Amino acid sequence: MRILLSLLTVGLLLAIAGCKTSSTAVASSSSPPVPAAVGPIPGPPAPPNERTNPLNGDPVALQDGRRLFDWYNCSGCHGGHAGGGMGPSLRDPVWLYGDRDEQIFDSIAEGRSKGMPAWGSRIPEHQIWELVAYIKSMGTPQEPDPPVEPADEEVPNPEHNTIPASRPKPQ
Ligand code: HEC
Repeated sequence: MRILLSLLTVGLLLAIAGCKTSSTAVASSSSPPVPAAVGPIPGPPAPPNERTNPLNGDPVALQDGRRLFDWYNCSGCHGGHAGGGMGPSLRDPVWLYGDRDEQIFDSIAEGRSKGMPAWGSRIPEHQIWELVAYIKSMGTPQEPDPPVEPADEEVPNPEHNTIPASRPKPQ
């Protein structure tokens, strides 16, 4: 009797297991998996210093950032093409406060101690990201309206210092 009972139990378990596998198999073969929206990943929120520019790779943002740079008179302190003035150059490789997206964002939004005004309350966040995108494009082929190369005449060339043969001799 015991053997029969245990056999029955085993049979029952097998039947349940079989049912389960067959039902999932049917479900997966009959309807393709519905793409579910992935919710926020659980865990602590990303620290603020890991923000990246949502406008990265957007050529329109670069153009707008270029315009805003003049519009908000960033160029007044940093130079027309941000090559430096009263404020530091933003196109050289030297960064006082870091060159990551969020560091440049914070420089603009919060200001910096030695003369950089805080713009966070005056400029919408979207426009700050446009400025960040523009600043980061400087010196790359993507830069809109890049500064022109110094003209040939400005480059010292010893050959230009000789008096041309055709020049009339002073009387
Ligand atoms: C009144 C002059 C002034 C204006 C206007 C100004 N800046 Fe600045 N900016 C500075 C100075 C000075 C610094 C350096 C601050 C320091 O060393 O603490 C600076 C620093 C910065 C930095 C950080 C540079 C680094 O090396 O880390 C960024 C980015 C920047 N400015 C962007 C801008 C943008 C964008 C605008 C326009 C919205 C702007 N600035 C307008 C004077 C100015």
